[in-house]
Amino acid sequence: MTQTLQQFLLNELRDHPEKYALVMMMADIATIGKLISARTNRAGLTDLRGLAGTTNVQDEAQAKLDVYSNDLCKNYLGSTELFAAMASEEEDEVVDLKNPGANYVIAFDPLDGSSNIDVNAGIGTIFSVHKKLDKVPAGDERQFLQPGRDQVLAGYILYGSSTMLVFSWGDGVHAFTLDVDLGEFLLSDAHVKIPDASPYYSFNEAYAPYITEKDQKALKIIRERTDKLRWIGSLVGDFHRNMIKGGVLVFPAVDTSGKKNYKPKLRLNYEAKPMAMLAEQAGGAAVSTDGTAIMDIIPRELHERVALIIGNKKIIKEAS
Ligand code: AHG
Ligand code: MN
Ligand code: MN
Repeated sequence: MTQTLQQFLLNELRDHPEKYALVMMMADIATIGKLISARTNRAGLTDLRGLAGTTNVQDEAQAKLDVYSNDLCKNYLGSTELFAAMASEEEDEVVDLKNPGANYVIAFDPLDGSSNIDVNAGIGTIFSVHKKLDKVPAGDERQFLQPGRDQVLAGYILYGSSTMLVFSWGDGVHAFTLDVDLGEFLLSDAHVKIPDASPYYSFNEAYAPYITEKDQKALKIIRERTDKLRWIGSLVGDFHRNMIKGGVLVFPAVDTSGKKNYKPKLRLNYEAKPMAMLAEQAGGAAVSTDGTAIMDIIPRELHERVALIIGNKKIIKEAS
């Protein structure tokens, strides 16, 4: 018999009453997923395609759906009294949610894969939750300079051919699919495992001439150990496919200017850290291109970027 997210969460609460806050926040995140999913499905009908005409702190053009999703995360989660602060790819600074009783902080990529919105390809929302540091003010950036290893909850919502909620609070990876008729997330896989067989590698091949020699060598090994290239151009979609089907996803530092000023693209707090937790919990690995486990990196700044290789553990070990 199919289990709803609600049943799953209530069972968890029965067995682990100490997880009350985490259970409540998963219910809230699921609601956010349903709201963004509904908007995403109507993006072509409701003038939600295209750019908002603004840029974020990283000087990236914001899509209308980026802005909608960010405002929703901020306003909805601000009202739940579970979170003391929020950090987002779309916010310059940490947002103090003015909930003095709250014991957690949350980091978001509200809408990942923005370039795919207008073409009806997979996009997502990524989240990462830490305990609030007691000795640091709620709105202080240091709340978000905690290593991935200290995450208590991480996951994503994938708005693809169906909407899926995938998360971990440290006992494996749980995947749910939204039944739009019922308006409920239904359990698809209680313990997702990355398969040993690894058919896919995923990399933006247009960047191949613009990465370091060391990364070229790692990439060569990854290409040799896999059969096919698959690339959507949204981390959530590409990670999800490779987690389900087996594969390795590569985001090295890139320099297209010829000045050898290589820079990574993905953000540690909003993208790499939460995905690394899911990868490890599903039996895979996530490292930076120097071989350091993403989960062990202590962020030095809020919007820090990091190179990422994520997926099949054996291949990543051979390539690092
Ligand atoms: P975002 O839309 O949140 O800015 O993230 C986009 C990221 C990632 O999801 C995607 O895989 C990558 O950017 C694609 O970058 P390129 O098009 O430069 O390969
Ligand atoms: Mn992103
Ligand atoms: Mn984004």
